[in-house]
Amino acid sequence: MIQVSHLTKFYGPRPAIQDLNFSVNRGEIVGFLGPNGAGKSTTMKILTGFMPASDGIAKIAGFDVFDQPTEVKRNVGFLPENPPVYTEMTVRDYLEFAATLHQVPRSELKRATDSAIERTGLGDVRNRLIGNLSKGYRQRVGLAQALVHLPKVLILDEPTVGLDPKQIIEIRELIKSLAGDHTVILSSHILPEVTATCQRIIVINRGRIVAEDTIDRLTTRMQKGLVYSMVVKNPMDDGIQALRQIDGVSHVSASGSKLTMELRPGSKEIRDQIVETAVTRRMGVLEFSAERLSLEDVFLELTTVEENSGRSSTEPNTALQ
Ligand SMILES: Nc1ncnc2c1ncn2[C@@H]1O[C@H](COP(=O)(O)OP(=O)(O)OP(=O)(O)O)[C@@H](O)[C@H]1O
Ligand SMILES: [Mg+2]
Repeated sequence: MIQVSHLTKFYGPRPAIQDLNFSVNRGEIVGFLGPNGAGKSTTMKILTGFMPASDGIAKIAGFDVFDQPTEVKRNVGFLPENPPVYTEMTVRDYLEFAATLHQVPRSELKRATDSAIERTGLGDVRNRLIGNLSKGYRQRVGLAQALVHLPKVLILDEPTVGLDPKQIIEIRELIKSLAGDHTVILSSHILPEVTATCQRIIVINRGRIVAEDTIDRLTTRMQKGLVYSMVVKNPMDDGIQALRQIDGVSHVSASGSKLTMELRPGSKEIRDQIVETAVTRRMGVLEFSAERLSLEDVFLELTTVEENSGRSSTEPNTALQ
């Protein structure tokens, strides 16, 4: 549904994004994750036809964003980073105006507006001035204008920024409910945001994609070695020794009754064996758990590896290999 190849944008002599390649399938929610200045908004503005690229190709629903801007605009809804605020308009009037801009036929205007109001939970405030709404409700208005023409693709630039925790949850739920009908790409510099909402993430740093995968696989892929921890009644030396000898365990440390076992990267499934050994040695297993690197760790690793490695800028994906 979204195809990007070799996309590059220079602002003057400085590249904001370089040689981006990715695609998003129909009905997916993909997170575009990166620190400030990574190039998220730049990419999104190009995808929505807001701004031309310097090089490369971007297609939405099969239409080229440069050559077929009208078709692209019909198929895309955009929530920009700083949405224009029409504070003096009522929610209803503004959405009808947005629908007109999106070329919804006159006869369909009312139905399109009502449906957008309903889908974004704006029914109670439909006749209020936008200027008098809370930030969360204004954000809903932003989402409503993005989807009023029922576009195939929704592009949302930092949709929950500046909202309080309750509003964040509401907007996330709303976005999730839009997937399926729409293909969604949303940007964020906050990890919990993408883990809560998206199925897949594309990590961008300094204008280059440094990782792209499902959230689970990305976490697994970046693991140096999984860590298991076990709480036992009797942390005896011979038991710990036996655990150390299990094939796949690289290190066992004990802190009181808590044992921490580091695994060799790529080791096979050995949880049964660990627990069995502890039981045979009568260690008295109280708890067993697997600790995984959080996406936060993965993200830091990806972005700092890239920065610290001194790799040439022509090798964008080497951080993963
Ligand atoms: N109009 C512009 N003129 C010159 N440089 C720009 C312009 N817009 C963005 N840049 C630069 O391009 C780079 C990417 O900016 P962009 O806004 O795309 O990042 P971002 O990932 O959206 O960041 P943020 O999380 O802060 O919104 C930055 O270095 C920024 O300073
Ligand atoms: Mg931005």
